[in-house]
Amino acid sequence: MIQKGLLIKRLNSLPLELQHIIFLSRNLARIEKIGVYLVGGFVRDLLLGVDNFDLDIVVEKDGIEFAYKLSRILDGTVVKHKAFGTATITKKNGSKIDIATSRKEFYPAPAALPVVNEGGIEDDLFRRDFSINAMACHIDFEKFGRLVDRFNGLKDLKDGRIRCLHEESFIDDPTRIIRAVRFEQRLGFHIDKDTLRLIKQARNLGMLEKVQKHRIRDELILVFKEKNPYKVLRRLKQIYNLTFIDRHIKLNRDCKKVFFNLNKACVRFQHSFPQRRPLDIWLMYLMFFLSPIKLRFLQRILGKYAFCCGDTKRIISFNKEFRKIDKNLSKKKLSAAGLHSILSPLSYEVILLTLALSKRQRTKQRIQDFFVKHHHKKLTITGGDLLSLGIKPGPKFKKLFQVVLRAKINGKIHNREEELGFVKKIINKK
Ligand code: CTP
Repeated sequence: MIQKGLLIKRLNSLPLELQHIIFLSRNLARIEKIGVYLVGGFVRDLLLGVDNFDLDIVVEKDGIEFAYKLSRILDGTVVKHKAFGTATITKKNGSKIDIATSRKEFYPAPAALPVVNEGGIEDDLFRRDFSINAMACHIDFEKFGRLVDRFNGLKDLKDGRIRCLHEESFIDDPTRIIRAVRFEQRLGFHIDKDTLRLIKQARNLGMLEKVQKHRIRDELILVFKEKNPYKVLRRLKQIYNLTFIDRHIKLNRDCKKVFFNLNKACVRFQHSFPQRRPLDIWLMYLMFFLSPIKLRFLQRILGKYAFCCGDTKRIISFNKEFRKIDKNLSKKKLSAAGLHSILSPLSYEVILLTLALSKRQRTKQRIQDFFVKHHHKKLTITGGDLLSLGIKPGPKFKKLFQVVLRAKINGKIHNREEELGFVKKIINKK
C-alpha cells in the first residue's frame, strides 16, 4: 500500500492542467461505469518522480468513444485510429492526451504490426514492452491512485532493471531492442540477464533488419532525442550492432567528444539568442553520425528511411558543404558581407555543427561574429519604397536589395535614410 499513498501524493502535485484532465476522466468513468487507468511511461515516471506531461490513459471499454466525450468537455479535437482502438485528443493549447481501449494483441508474423482484440487491463499490460512500462494507476473514484502491477514493475524500477515480459517479446516487436537500450541508458538501469539473452537471440535472427524502415527511423529519432545519444549508440553496437541501420554505418571515434561540444554550442546559442527558433539538436547529432558516409550512399539511406524533406535537405547540405564552408570561412580576407553570403543560406543546425567540428580557429571566430554582429541585420526599405522611386518591379528588385544589404552588412550604411540614399545613388549612376 506504500505506493498507493505515493501515487496519490504524486498525482496531487502534477501541474493543475493535468490534474484537471484526470479529474474529468474520473468523473466520466463514474458516469460511464468503466475502469479508467493511467498507464505506461507516465506511471513509470510518476513513480520515479520524473516530469512527464504526456498523459496516457487506458479505458476498459470503448476508448475512442471515451475520447470523444472527454474531448467535448475539454474543447479539444480527436484523431482516432480505429484499427487499434486508440485516439489522441489535442487541446487548444496544443497539449495531447492519448486514450486507448484496453486490448490484447496478437502478432500474426514476426516484426509485423499486431492484430488487436478486446481485453482487460491485465491483457493490456501484458502486451507491453518492459515491466517498468507495464504498470497502471487507477483513476476511477473507488480505487483512485492504486497501482496495478501484475509484472513486478515497481520492484524492477527500484532495482534498476529493464525486463521484458515474455520470450517472444523481441520477435513480436524488434524495435523493443532499441527501446531497451534507450531506457537502460536514460535511467542508468541495466538490462536483465534473460532479457539480454533474448535480445541476442533476436540479433542472431536479424530481427531488426526485418522491421519496416519507417518504424526504425522513428526509433532512431528517439535515440537522437535522448540526453546522451552516444551512450545509447555505443550500447546498441555492443549488444546488437549498428549495421542493421545500413552496412555503411559506423560509430565514429570522435562521436562522444563531438556530441559533447555540440551540446555545449547549442546551449550557448539558445542562451545567447533566446528569441531564435529552437534548435533540432537531435538532427545535428544525426547529421554528424551520418557525416562519414559518401553522398551517394547517404542519399540512398535517407530515401530508404523516408526522412522528411526538410531533415533530408539539412543532412545532405552538411554532408556536401562542410569542407567547402569550413575552407571558405577560414580565408584570410573575407568581408562581413562575404561571411553573410556564405552562412545566411544555411540552417542553424548546419552552421553550429560546422562550429563544433571545425579545427580552424578562424572559422570558429567568423561563425561567432556572424551570429553576434551580422545575422540580425535586415533592410528597412521595402518594395513599396523602390516603387515610389520609380523603379519597375522585376528581377532588378532582388538585385538592388542584395546590393543594399551588402553595403549595410559591411557597415557603409546604417539606417533607413542611408538605405534610400544608397538606392538613389545607384539608380542615378545608371
Ligand atoms: N509500448 C510497448 N512497445 C513499444 C512501444 C510502446 O509496449 N514498442 C508501450 C509501453 O508500455 C510504453 C507505452 O506503450 O510505456 C507508451 O509508449 P511511448 O510513448 O513510446 O513510451 P514511453 O514509455 O512513454 O517512453 P518515453 O518516456 O520515451 O516517451
